[in-house]
Amino acid sequence: MALWCCPLYRRFLRAPCGCYTFLVIVTVVWALLSMIFGFNNSLKDADFIGLTACPACLGTSWCHQFLSGQLKLNFWWRLRLLNFLNHKQVFFGHFRDDRKGWVSVVFKRLASADEILVLDQRLCHEAGLPGHCNVSHAVRFFEKVIQLNTEVASGWSDVLRCPSRLLLQQLAKRHGEDSGVSGLAHFTYTLRLNPEPVILQAFPKSEGWPFPQYLGACGRFIAVVNAGPGLWSFVGAPWYRRAALARDLLNLAEKLTWSDLHFSLYMLDVTFDNFAVDPVDGHPVLVDAENVLVVDREHVREAKPEGWNEWYESDSYNENDVPCEACLTYSYTSLCNHLYHDHNFYAICHNLLGAGARWRGWQGGLLQGAPPYITADGRLITLLQQCEQPTNRFKAPLNVKPKIGCTVDPSPTEAHTS
Ligand SMILES: Nc1ncnc2c1ncn2[C@@H]1O[C@H](COP(=O)(O)OP(=O)(O)O)[C@@H](O)[C@H]1O
Ligand SMILES: *[C@@H]1O[C@H](CO)[C@@H](O)[C@H](O)[C@H]1NC(C)=O
Ligand SMILES: [Mg+2]
Repeated sequence: MALWCCPLYRRFLRAPCGCYTFLVIVTVVWALLSMIFGFNNSLKDADFIGLTACPACLGTSWCHQFLSGQLKLNFWWRLRLLNFLNHKQVFFGHFRDDRKGWVSVVFKRLASADEILVLDQRLCHEAGLPGHCNVSHAVRFFEKVIQLNTEVASGWSDVLRCPSRLLLQQLAKRHGEDSGVSGLAHFTYTLRLNPEPVILQAFPKSEGWPFPQYLGACGRFIAVVNAGPGLWSFVGAPWYRRAALARDLLNLAEKLTWSDLHFSLYMLDVTFDNFAVDPVDGHPVLVDAENVLVVDREHVREAKPEGWNEWYESDSYNENDVPCEACLTYSYTSLCNHLYHDHNFYAICHNLLGAGARWRGWQGGLLQGAPPYITADGRLITLLQQCEQPTNRFKAPLNVKPKIGCTVDPSPTEAHTS
């Protein structure tokens, strides 16, 4: 019995209560404080990071970095008591890189606690185990039963919505979480929960893709590089800054649509929150890659569905009905069955740039309030309207980017006078 403190207590406090009561109070206060402030590094805690659920988890490639304590949460994100407010389950932190110095990192659980629970129960169910089974057992069983099959996988997430063997193989090949026997489990679990890590690895930042850099996973957390402040924080920026962002967003749309030899990527969730702006080069990055649909263009060329090589222009039939925030009109069939689709351009114009763009009760779009020398000839407004609400009059979506790009691209002198 550690009663060494009792003489201290008697000497300094002289309180009427006994030594044991004092010990209990100290313990309770300590427990409360550490619950609030999380003195221990939560990222080293196997239960907190969901390591015990493996192989029903996102991977283990960065467990060394997590468990050794190299990764740290920033102050406010340590407050475990506040976790229930963190519905998105996104945590901000940092680590020290030998070459780059301090790197700002985002830790993501990729789904809400409820969604994670529902998937666990479904996996247990599919494995023929009771609903509240230990999901790490369910996946082992499940792995043997289901072979990766393009039809089955296409129902799991948007990335595989257009079934293609080549795409599935490519995603699996690039997935760095497949060391050892658990590889298939990590891959399928990730695809079913949220395909973001699969996309970040198959289309990496190092090859010029506009996504954050993927670092690794441990249990049910992934670590990605913090891509910078959200696009939302730029809606009040000076015109030349917003114009440059608009041009870069259209470049991003072009990159996703055309730049790869085999695949076209379409963004299905385009909001001000889902983009960040790189603090170094100022370019926008898509930080939420959950709803990215990938089309294997070679597959379209071979299957030749009706109208496959015609230019496809998005409809926006919901336009005058209900005003809604960040909603897009698209159909999986039209995206999957065309080589040329204007979806990304339409999505950027409709949800971010055009006057009809809405977010958090605000309406206006990134390109509102252009200076008179730009708006004088009315071209910018017309082009934006055409991009935002495609109609049959507008048959060449490819023209949108260069036209708006030129229109909004200010010359350096103009930039200074605005
Ligand atoms: N890599 C990142 N860099 C910077 N901020 C990020 C990053 N990932 C997420 N965030 C921030 O966290 C928020 C929620 O992440 P997100 O992936 O969009 O989750 P959800 O799927 O719940 O919308 C984003 O809106 C963004 O502000
Ligand atoms: C589930 O099983 C694994 C391996 O058998 C074990 O390590 C883990 O602690 C179990 N998890 C729970 C919540 O019981
Ligand atoms: Mg989001």
